Amino acid sequence: MLNEKVESALNHQIKIEAQSSQFYLAMASWAETEGLVGTAKFLYEHSDEERQHMLKLIKFVNERGGKALIPELEAPPEDFESIVEIFKTLLQHEIKVTNHVNEVVDICLSEKDYTTHNFMQWYVAEQLEEEATARTIMDKLQMIGNEKAGLYLFDRDLENLTPEDQPLE
Ligand code: FEO
Repeated sequence: MLNEKVESALNHQIKIEAQSSQFYLAMASWAETEGLVGTAKFLYEHSDEERQHMLKLIKFVNERGGKALIPELEAPPEDFESIVEIFKTLLQHEIKVTNHVNEVVDICLSEKDYTTHNFMQWYVAEQLEEEATARTIMDKLQMIGNEKAGLYLFDRDLENLTPEDQPLE
């Protein structure tokens, strides 16, 4: 049986992952309307991944005898200023997600729930990877600046990258 505090922390994490999926979906849709085909593809995939993160938590909570709560979500922004703003926001968002994951891990330890602690290690590793990818993308964008040809190539590169891949060289 899941401890009440752990269950509530996991349900909060379900909301964070769902909200992330919705947020990246809004970014993907915006990129698509801007003709940024590669960026849109990358973000649609990222949004799907976040949904998978949410589902994995839902199943875990229910399998352990808890009750997963399907949350109400805030509407994400409709517009973004630029591709740079998107990835800056994405990185900041992922850092927040990492902090939330760490909080869940902390609660597992203080409640001595080592099974959930073990389960959460997958999220710890995933966050490391996602932050690294977002940082590499941001570094690349900073090098390109507002140069149109560079942004075109960047978008094309992203088309061949999935959020699970190694960051761009
Ligand atoms: Fe599942 Fe990127 O947080």
